[in-house]
Amino acid sequence: MGKANGQVVLITGASSGIGLALAQVLAKEGAKVMITARRKDNLVKACQEMRSSGGQVDYYVADIAVEKEVSQLVEHTNKHFGKIDILVNNAGYGHFLKLANTTSEDMHNIMEVNFFGTFYATNAVLPIMKKQNSGHIIMVSSVAAKRVFRDAGGAYNVSKYAMQSFAEALRMELLESPIKVSIVCPIVTATEFFDLAEKQIGKKATLSGPIQTSEQVANTIVSLIEKPKAEVMMLKPIRILLALNALFPSLVDQIIQRFFINPEKNRN
Ligand SMILES: NC(=O)c1ccc[n+]([C@@H]2O[C@H](COP(=O)([O-])OP(=O)(O)OC[C@H]3O[C@@H](n4cnc5c(N)ncnc54)[C@H](OP(=O)(O)O)[C@@H]3O)[C@@H](O)[C@H]2O)c1
Repeated sequence: MGKANGQVVLITGASSGIGLALAQVLAKEGAKVMITARRKDNLVKACQEMRSSGGQVDYYVADIAVEKEVSQLVEHTNKHFGKIDILVNNAGYGHFLKLANTTSEDMHNIMEVNFFGTFYATNAVLPIMKKQNSGHIIMVSSVAAKRVFRDAGGAYNVSKYAMQSFAEALRMELLESPIKVSIVCPIVTATEFFDLAEKQIGKKATLSGPIQTSEQVANTIVSLIEKPKAEVMMLKPIRILLALNALFPSLVDQIIQRFFINPEKNRN
């Protein structure tokens, strides 16, 4: 049995993609899982499937951008399972427009979900974990919280950088406490995340470079539960680029322009 067995895990953004894959792995491992998102049909179906194979799973519909709904979600989870061992802040969405075409409303909306949603859930869970004198908060951040790799969708980077620095600040504040904070930085993951591109820019997002699956990210999160770490970068060589970025950011601009944004240039 893994370490997740018997642990109560609250996963936000679990109606699809990474959050759903994580719930499925944890349910198999014997964790007590509360899944949440806005799409009730998805949550009900996921719950039924996991329960049919013995999973101890429940769902709660909430909009992560609404603080009251998030505090009710946390209260409900704590009452239902009697404790909350692990919070996985995973709810989030992408953005595919250039900054020049991004409205204030777009920027507010994405900050409300990707940053404030994380803030609301963490704030609601912390008093419970402090009382328990144990807990683990896991942030599903992104490589997009470390460096901008595209020439559009900057609002997403802004929101993820905010989430990342919130996570680091919290980790420092809790360094001496029994409550752990971990960050996972996935690279491109094949999920519904990219569906929004068609709506925003009128064409499907082209996924380039190494692409991972939701299950790979889920398994990495499970290994973080087994052995808490400050941060996991899902594609290790990215660290080299980030180190180079700390020293020579304009050189990295050129590398990204050539190899990430216009990779076809290299075929001439
Ligand atoms: N896919 C990638 O390439 C990639 C790479 C790095 C990091 N990430 C991060 O991974 C996380 C999960 O994304 P994914 O790739 O699994 O995409 P996904 O399949 O689109 O999942 C996103 C989840 O967030 C939920 N969500 C969005 N807005 C919400 C809101 N206002 N209230 C409550 N829940 C909300 C969605 O549920 P409802 O729509 O049902 O509410 C859904 O369950 C995100 O934080 C994303 O930034 C993704």
